[in-house]
Amino acid sequence: MQRPMVTYRAQPGGSLAGRIRVPGDKSISHRAIMLGALAEGVSEVSGFLEGEDALATIAAFRAMGVRIDGPVQGRVTVHGVGLHGLKAPDGPIDCGNSGTSMRLLAGLLAGQPFDSTLTGDSSLSRRPMRRVAGPLTEMGALVELTDADTPPLTIRGGRPLQGIAYRSPVASAQVKSCLLLAGLYARGRTCVTEPGISRDHTERMLTAMGYPVERPGDNTVCVAGGGRLQAARIDIPADISSAAFFLVGASIAEGSDLVLEHVGINPTRTGILDILRLMGADITLLNEREAGGEPVADIRVRAARLRGVRIPEELVPLAIDEFPALFVAAACAEGETLLTGAAELRVKESDLIAVMADGLRALGVDAEPLPDGMRIRGGAIRGGRVHSHTDHRIAMSFAMAALRAEGEIVIEDCANVATSFPGFAALARRAGLEIHVREEQP
Ligand code: S3P
Repeated sequence: MQRPMVTYRAQPGGSLAGRIRVPGDKSISHRAIMLGALAEGVSEVSGFLEGEDALATIAAFRAMGVRIDGPVQGRVTVHGVGLHGLKAPDGPIDCGNSGTSMRLLAGLLAGQPFDSTLTGDSSLSRRPMRRVAGPLTEMGALVELTDADTPPLTIRGGRPLQGIAYRSPVASAQVKSCLLLAGLYARGRTCVTEPGISRDHTERMLTAMGYPVERPGDNTVCVAGGGRLQAARIDIPADISSAAFFLVGASIAEGSDLVLEHVGINPTRTGILDILRLMGADITLLNEREAGGEPVADIRVRAARLRGVRIPEELVPLAIDEFPALFVAAACAEGETLLTGAAELRVKESDLIAVMADGLRALGVDAEPLPDGMRIRGGAIRGGRVHSHTDHRIAMSFAMAALRAEGEIVIEDCANVATSFPGFAALARRAGLEIHVREEQP
């Protein structure tokens, strides 16, 4: 499919104010479809992210015979087929830009009686898949990759899986969730131990659907094969990763006072709040409550003078998707910000370290890329032209940088904002950012 070329032009200055609700959590949206499809009964989902990544997961399960109604205004009805009710898809499953779809599906498909192939767009086709194929092979799966360990992935069905105790070299919820999903089909227990904390939405949703999950130690989680999932009602909160752009925007733009409504504040995702607060941000959680097994709150953020910090490495996995936005905060802070221990940023939708450093430098910011992080010295942000390299988070982060820039920021190649944040520009405009979108057909 040929996509339009989307360019953002963000005008300098302004502030963010009012009350807004950003779209639903991407991680939870994927899991609601996957686990809803594997459950017995009908799961009613609300707050679903109608972005391309989560829609790719819906399409994958429809291709495997699951009836899914919606999404209509964030409502989706998933008619579960049970753990053994999926049908062989007619052809390859296209995961688009979505690493979460591909890595989680890989685990699930390893347990099916049929063969399957997972493909992705040019960005996903460059991302490392040995991290899931390796441990799945240890469990007895047969997974084929390219010689560069990248997609497409072909998974041979009908292979009996054996539970393993896997020590992951990276803190990755995608790897962990992949193995837990394979573990639902394995003989015995499958345990994953990680070097740090990664998001735990899979574990929470399995528990909410009545599947036993054990946590025998810090950063270890186990499931035993052979259980059943019961359909559930799933209320998906707004995505803190999408809120992050506004948290940074309101922090750096003088006079801002913004409330972000009903945001998920799962403690495995709140590194952005901790890091911004270390930098001196003025953030208050209001009306804290639970929704669908996940903690949520309204978040009030007001402009503040930020200062540079050394980002504690233990916070890195808890803020992994928020560093593009945090780099913009660092560019507006007084003094130096140093991030290390974040080599994972190089294997996301783009190499976030290289691409953000190039963009910040193009805007006159003193940014030095490091093998596993970045050193940024705060100062003036000039206007200019930057390239998102088709990465949604880069595009939205530079849009927010305009709030403190001396001139217009033109951001090229923004079509992929639709993967995680449909309606971003309109919502940002409503909050006070002057942003224009130009779409050209290729
Ligand atoms: C995700 C996990 C993270 C994150 C991604 C979504 C998930 O990836 O970057 O956007 O939903 O499990 P890793 O597990 O590779 O760190």
